[in-house]
Amino acid sequence: MIPATMRGLRFHRHGGPEVLVWDELPVPEPGPGEVLIRSRGFAVNWADLMERAGVYPGAPDPPYVMGHDLAGDIVAHGPGVEGPAIGTRVFGLLPQAGTSAEWIVARAGQVYPVPEALTDAEAAGLGSPFLTADAALVTMGRLQAGETVLVHAAAGGFGSATVQLCKAYGAGTVIATAGSPEKLQRVATLGADVTVDYTTEDFVEVVKRVTDGRGVDLVMESVGGDVLARSFDCVRPAGRLVSVGASSGRSTSRFRLQTLFETGITVGGFTLGQWIQHDPELVAASVERVLRVLAAGAIHPLVAQVFKPEDIADAHVYLAGRQSVGRTIVLFPQS
Ligand SMILES: NC(=O)c1ccc[n+]([C@@H]2O[C@H](COP(=O)([O-])OP(=O)(O)OC[C@H]3O[C@@H](n4cnc5c(N)ncnc54)[C@H](OP(=O)(O)O)[C@@H]3O)[C@@H](O)[C@H]2O)c1
Repeated sequence: MIPATMRGLRFHRHGGPEVLVWDELPVPEPGPGEVLIRSRGFAVNWADLMERAGVYPGAPDPPYVMGHDLAGDIVAHGPGVEGPAIGTRVFGLLPQAGTSAEWIVARAGQVYPVPEALTDAEAAGLGSPFLTADAALVTMGRLQAGETVLVHAAAGGFGSATVQLCKAYGAGTVIATAGSPEKLQRVATLGADVTVDYTTEDFVEVVKRVTDGRGVDLVMESVGGDVLARSFDCVRPAGRLVSVGASSGRSTSRFRLQTLFETGITVGGFTLGQWIQHDPELVAASVERVLRVLAAGAIHPLVAQVFKPEDIADAHVYLAGRQSVGRTIVLFPQS
């Protein structure tokens, strides 16, 4: 039975984890082309921390139900919807937020059946990192078999997905950076060939050494600031750099547009939410590729820790503490 109200995670003013509250809200109704989902759980993304702090570009004003990644079961169809069938366990990503709630309304075309082998926690963590990693590697990055790739923050949600997809898609040497020896050990088990603690080592030097001074074919960047600035020195002439985020909260003024023609490098930006809105066919291609490698058992979403809904503030503190390897997940009790 569908209840009249539910718990939804919101904040009414920007601030630290203490501003997070579970509000009692009406269960949403699916409109034309939409489905109603009973949530199994959601991921806490770096973007959630930035939204809560009030520093995420383009985020709406509070209050709104937070969260972008979801796993749950289709419970009802809005008018005109033919699938996924009622009862299907799905994963998905809502660019406009709204997944941190017990019941979720989503566009039917934006949720996808979860491969059977995946746990609920793995499914909740699948959407944004894997679809972003695929699109950034394949569509934006034009990854070719055998190419050398530098992946930053490789123990994180996006980074660990990227390392795994690099290997599944036939990349050559993968050089991965992360912030501790423990993280690097884990990243090596995902298939990274060379690991660098970028808090203690100069990753530009390592890249030059490993590539005989040439630089890598492709850089996958999500940290911003100094890491982004120094990454331009890691790209080979006519190579590519794809920027998907700025976890450090910082940009760089070092890059000059003129560098593009001087070096022949291509610099691209990628935001999954924009593609879902404006280029859904490109996202559909990413979903297909990711599901294919998942089915082959070639990749596995990494779950760092699972939290209860009432411990949501701890989940935010945990992710912000830079200790996580993989995804930070919240699961709802299923009765
Ligand atoms: N464009 C898109 O559509 C899209 C989609 C998904 C994610 N993203 C972006 O990708 C990035 C990763 O997201 P995620 O949710 O997977 O988070 P995450 O990578 O699990 O966590 C962020 C990591 O960034 C690293 N980091 C490096 N310098 C940092 C600094 N100065 N302060 C804090 N952290 C720092 C930390 O790892 P170390 O300790 O190892 O350095 C930290 O664990 C975010 O910037 C996010 O916005 C973008």
